[in-house]
Amino acid sequence: MSDATQTYTHDVLIIGAGGAGLRAAIEAAAGGASVGVVCKSLLGKAHTVMAEGGIAAALGNVDPQDNWQVHFQDTMRGGALINNWRMAELHATESPDRVYELETWGAIFDRTPDGRILQRPFGAHTYRRLCHVGDRTGLEMIRTLQDRVVALRIAVYMEVTLTRLLKDGDRIAGATGYNRQTGDFVTFRSKAVVLASGGWGRIYKVTSNSWEGTGDGVAMGFEAGAEVLDPEMVQFHPTGMVWPPGVKGLLVTEAVRGEGGYLFNSEHKRFMLDYEPEKKELASRDKVARAIYKEVQAGRGSPHGGAFLDVIHLGSDRIKKKLPSMYDQFLSLADVDITREAMEVYPTIHYAMGGLRVEPDTGATTVRGLYAAGEVAAGLHGANRLGGNSLSDLLVFGRRAGAAAAQFVKSVSLGALDPASVADEQRLLLGSLEGAGSENPYLLQQELQAAMQEGAGIARTDAGLRTCLQTILALKRRADNVHVAGSRLYNPGWHTARDLRFMLVISEAIVRGAIERRESRGAHWRTDFPNADPNFGKLNLIALKDGDAMRITTRPVPEMPDELADLFNGEVRQKSA
Ligand code: FUM
Repeated sequence: MSDATQTYTHDVLIIGAGGAGLRAAIEAAAGGASVGVVCKSLLGKAHTVMAEGGIAAALGNVDPQDNWQVHFQDTMRGGALINNWRMAELHATESPDRVYELETWGAIFDRTPDGRILQRPFGAHTYRRLCHVGDRTGLEMIRTLQDRVVALRIAVYMEVTLTRLLKDGDRIAGATGYNRQTGDFVTFRSKAVVLASGGWGRIYKVTSNSWEGTGDGVAMGFEAGAEVLDPEMVQFHPTGMVWPPGVKGLLVTEAVRGEGGYLFNSEHKRFMLDYEPEKKELASRDKVARAIYKEVQAGRGSPHGGAFLDVIHLGSDRIKKKLPSMYDQFLSLADVDITREAMEVYPTIHYAMGGLRVEPDTGATTVRGLYAAGEVAAGLHGANRLGGNSLSDLLVFGRRAGAAAAQFVKSVSLGALDPASVADEQRLLLGSLEGAGSENPYLLQQELQAAMQEGAGIARTDAGLRTCLQTILALKRRADNVHVAGSRLYNPGWHTARDLRFMLVISEAIVRGAIERRESRGAHWRTDFPNADPNFGKLNLIALKDGDAMRITTRPVPEMPDELADLFNGEVRQKSA
């Protein structure tokens, strides 16, 4: 461990090495830029692998009627029409090319009998659209992109956490933070930064996200002056594990229902027939999650407080072929053989629809030189994301952000580093080790997670949200008084002390947005305002930094051009009329 700051320089700095970051890196390098990729953990370990069931792209291999227009409509309707239509259009039109490109780079998808990429059904997709590799699609995607990044000799900095974006006036000049292993401070100088560090599931108690998902990218963007769009929109994936306690929240892929799994309550009633008679288990995630919640609330839950998810009727061979990870996961972690017993499942926080507001075509945020792609960025998914749209999002918009950043750096020089900003961040980092505080960061994190689960969970009320906000504000004050024992050398307590600040920023944005949106739409369910309000249907909410405070404001949902609005048979024009 040294007191010196190691400094690296690249044209384009990419923060995050999941699908979006790696795809952005490949494109920025192709555009001639010198690229550095920073990952908080090891290369290859990313939340992308938790999109297990497939990548959505209207190839029409299994259902030839499918096309980009239907995919576009499904995405917009799934998002309850507050999505950015241009992002949804780009996503639907470009995702087939991104899938084929991935294949040319070595991804091996499951096949139709005549050798084309096989596609399976998923919730609220009209046609069988999910290209997949059993139930390990995200893993295959990361493996493929990672191979390419290594082959292109792109610089990768592992186990580095960047904690502050650096600016020269109104433009980006780099980022600073620390090496997790050594504790050394590091600074990157760059002409452009692409944020691709994923979401923020760890601010909740029950989540599919692993420890990295603390919202760093969105919080850093917010602190640098970028706008946070629709932060209140948090996805509860309907099916996480509920038992044993150590794996509570771990994802049970939607592919289980895509392959034909049924949900039952304790009375062995297939309850989705009542809630969603047409789409049943393959309704959109917000609807299935709410149905499970309601069944448990009504006292019809499974022994550990969930619903039963049953695939026994598919037969052992099909289960082991199409859902091998689920078979292994339940057998090894819960001692449940899913070829003979039902799984127990309950909603788990999986994904953030909210994030930084970006220009659809480029991923540019409102800060010059700062781009965002993947879960860090918002707009594509509106109020609810369809399963499988995340993987295609990462590829389509990772590529676009990487290309735009490479183009941008051609016309600018490196910005000047602001030593005061670097020193200020290092003082903040050292405060928890060297200060006289007495709070334990793990305990504060746990209090936050409990408060968010309770007050900003699947069912929300004004009173619950306001109590949660008070807790967050109190925790913010206590976070200034954190103390961590030991040194900077691989010290997870020290890391948690800084992560906690990101988590508090994000939590505040979610809760303030959720208080403001007095309606129910997509994943945002206000039991005190149970219906959608057409006025809110015209608005995106924005969280903005205002001095030391956070302000919620609104922007009109961008209006679709007529040729796209025509696809909705008047539904959309009525909305804006
Ligand atoms: O259930 C899943 O396999 C998750 C997919 C996704 O979030 O896109």
